[in-house]
Amino acid sequence: MQRSTNGNPPPPPGPKGQGFQNMRRLAGDLNGFIDSLHDEYGDIASYEVPGARFCAVFSAELMKEVMVDKEPILPPAYPWMHFDIVKSPGLARWRGADHKRLTTLLVDAFNDARMGPICEMLAEQTTAHLERFRPGETVDVVDEFERLSWKETLTALFGTDGDMHRELGRPLLKSVKMGFIVEALPAKGLIERLPLPFVRRANKAAKELDPLAYSAIRRARDPDHAGDDVVSHLVRATEEGRADWTYGNDREIRDEAYALLFGAYEPPVVVIVNALHYLALNPAAREALEREADTLPGDRPISGADLERLPYARAVALESLRLHPVAEPLVGRIALEDTTLGGYSVPKGTRVQVSPRILQSRPEYWEEPNEFQPERWLSDPHESQLGCPAHPFLGFNKEPRHCRGARFATALMVCALAGLARRFRFEPVGDALPKRAGTDFGAFPGPVLMRVEERPRSRAIPNP
Ligand code: HEM
Repeated sequence: MQRSTNGNPPPPPGPKGQGFQNMRRLAGDLNGFIDSLHDEYGDIASYEVPGARFCAVFSAELMKEVMVDKEPILPPAYPWMHFDIVKSPGLARWRGADHKRLTTLLVDAFNDARMGPICEMLAEQTTAHLERFRPGETVDVVDEFERLSWKETLTALFGTDGDMHRELGRPLLKSVKMGFIVEALPAKGLIERLPLPFVRRANKAAKELDPLAYSAIRRARDPDHAGDDVVSHLVRATEEGRADWTYGNDREIRDEAYALLFGAYEPPVVVIVNALHYLALNPAAREALEREADTLPGDRPISGADLERLPYARAVALESLRLHPVAEPLVGRIALEDTTLGGYSVPKGTRVQVSPRILQSRPEYWEEPNEFQPERWLSDPHESQLGCPAHPFLGFNKEPRHCRGARFATALMVCALAGLARRFRFEPVGDALPKRAGTDFGAFPGPVLMRVEERPRSRAIPNP
């Protein structure tokens, strides 16, 4: 334990008293600012912006301390509500016993039995989507995979996408992202009451989406409805007394589904788009993926049952997620009490950040950390340590805050990557990896163009 001269632990090192300067640097280049903290101060650093104090950690041991050991006093610092668009808290914002009870309900939404029909739906929709591509054309892969992920996520949640245009997702997601930023500002109470244009747009989008959500809730109560969708699970498990959780009214169920939707449809797109670039830049990995996809029987489209037989496709998704974590600034906590981290004092109210981007590329933890090597996920030690709290992969996080959509997201990504590998290759237009907006939670700031090519058939690739 570090000690200051008065016997109390000292604060973590960091730039002192430069609030406005830090804010300017953060807003201008979030990742650059976080990198400089790690470079200058090591495993832990603290900094201030006007009205808020932050502590950032960069090691596996400190990540475990934040995420697991001190979880009761360092819960996620998520905005309690999103500007009234979603009024109930949602899983990520509950704490303690409430969080545990709701977790049990949501884990069952993607249990083994329920994943069967979901995987069938993913396989069917991916196969249909691939029909859109024509060899020789250039496509915006962000647009393409966002379209697919939006449709699949709506169908998983509500049983149908109801022909809801995916443009509806953008204003809703924007309100969530702005919620994170406003939540950290001193004048948040005032800002939340202002007639902000992005809130108006998000409310309008929510109104358009509401008929889909409420009809899914009504359909869930019809005993003749199959009930494969998540909303059916929420309604039936709670109303039939199979869950230790109750919703006060349909609005709360709608809010739960929206909270899932907002967290669900964008991250897989980021992983897939980055993976396509890494595959294009790493022909050996691309051929290994193609070989695996070719082991699926016949020339038939991919099926739900195939998804369990595609470890390499899963490894490609995990490696893309390691090199480009989707949750960079989202993984935030708030100290509910004075506490310590790594022997340094962390006062109540401090926002604690874990940086998966730095953690997942530290040479101390990863061999050739900047290389795209899906093979590292095929064998021990990483595979068996995914659940190990001190393992330096944040990925889908760990218990008690493990991502409840990880099984769905993985199936979606595996299905897209393996389905593509059976038919096409995507080549980047330009050499660079796509740019991501550090201040937009890892999303891409604009279109990402790639050329679609027919997979060479003449040069048969032998199965492993
Ligand atoms: C590539 C895709 C995804 C990634 C990388 C990802 C990552 C994460 C991470 C890192 C967390 C922990 C956040 C924290 O501790 O503050 C999380 C939480 C969560 N995720 Fe995901 N996620 C993905 C997709 C999804 C999907 C598709 C869903 C829903 C269908 C989902 C639902 C949730 C929920 C409900 C939580 C809150 C868990 C809790 O607080 O107990 N996620 N996710």
